[in-house]
Amino acid sequence: QQRVFSGVQPTGNLHLGNYLGAIQRFVALQDSYDCIYCVVDMHAITVWQDPIELKKQIREVTAAFIAAGIDPAKHIVFNQSQVSGHAELAWVFNCVARLGWLNRMTQFKEKAGKDRENASVGLYAYPSLMAADILLYRATHVPVGEDQKQHLELTRDIAQKFNNDFGPSIASLGLGESFFPLTEPLIGGPAARVMSLRDGSKKMSKSDPSDLSRINLTDDADQVASKIRKAKTDPEPLPTEAEGLKGRPEADNLVGIYAALSDTPKEQVLTDFGGGQFSTFKSALVDLAVAKLGPIGAEMKRLVAEPTHIDAILRDGAARARVLADETLNQVKDIVGFVR
Ligand code: TYM
Repeated sequence: QQRVFSGVQPTGNLHLGNYLGAIQRFVALQDSYDCIYCVVDMHAITVWQDPIELKKQIREVTAAFIAAGIDPAKHIVFNQSQVSGHAELAWVFNCVARLGWLNRMTQFKEKAGKDRENASVGLYAYPSLMAADILLYRATHVPVGEDQKQHLELTRDIAQKFNNDFGPSIASLGLGESFFPLTEPLIGGPAARVMSLRDGSKKMSKSDPSDLSRINLTDDADQVASKIRKAKTDPEPLPTEAEGLKGRPEADNLVGIYAALSDTPKEQVLTDFGGGQFSTFKSALVDLAVAKLGPIGAEMKRLVAEPTHIDAILRDGAARARVLADETLNQVKDIVGFVR
């Protein structure tokens, strides 16, 4: 069975990178897989969150999922904290993962910064919880942006070590040769790494102090237009072939955004706009971005204004997720040797 799992943190400012690298692709996978999309609130608190703000953000990410076109009746949408199996399996994985593996995680190094002694233990163990999210449902495919690649490699390492460490137990329980699948990351397309609009060497991020660096899903048409017009470019006209984007990170980024928003290859975008000035291309990009994001932002605002509907979706999703999670968790308890 093929199953997709992915998660988004409710930590504010959902942006075009989150949309093109993840959410838009979640929508596209719905016809081919059983999908589980999770608002990972337990990951969010690895860095302190204001409780009132956190609630708001959980609803906002859920609203983004629904507004973008995820069908919560056919697939599962829920928030992580409501299915306790995530925390339980994460503990088992903390005992499988090695310190050396976690020490290599670049995201921890970035997020902890210089004051590492003062980072939360949760931030350090974050990748074990992420592996638990995925493997609790024995998901086979995980759509994410490129920044999550290392975490998915760790997920495979944890699955493999668990399968190995408990091989005889898994076999004696008749649970097959290997219990956890080696999950495939689904990373790719023209927007696997959307960059800052102000600096083509930095990824677009929720935490960039400059709001001009990103397009938020809730920005209105005027904000989208002004951010795209102000986006950094270089003085050359657009190239006519993708080769010509090498060494031009800002141009490459804008062409990638256009390609992802219009679901066409970058080559096609350059066939249409290559040789022309940035101003012409930027006008077309504004029209496209506003047409695509405007309705999503408006629907998000409508949904969060009346949260009972969103809360009901999350509750129903959690109940359905729990059924799947409990099955895996009971098997894990048997495999490890816990009495139940
Ligand atoms: P998060 O919340 O930082 O981001 C959510 C998704 O958006 C993608 N993304 C980007 N894609 C392209 N360009 C960008 N500039 C950009 N910025 C963010 C991320 O790659 C991600 O797919 N650890 C995860 C959440 C998580 C998870 C999981 C994901 C927890 N458990 C299990 C998959 C499976 C995170 O912090 O994503």
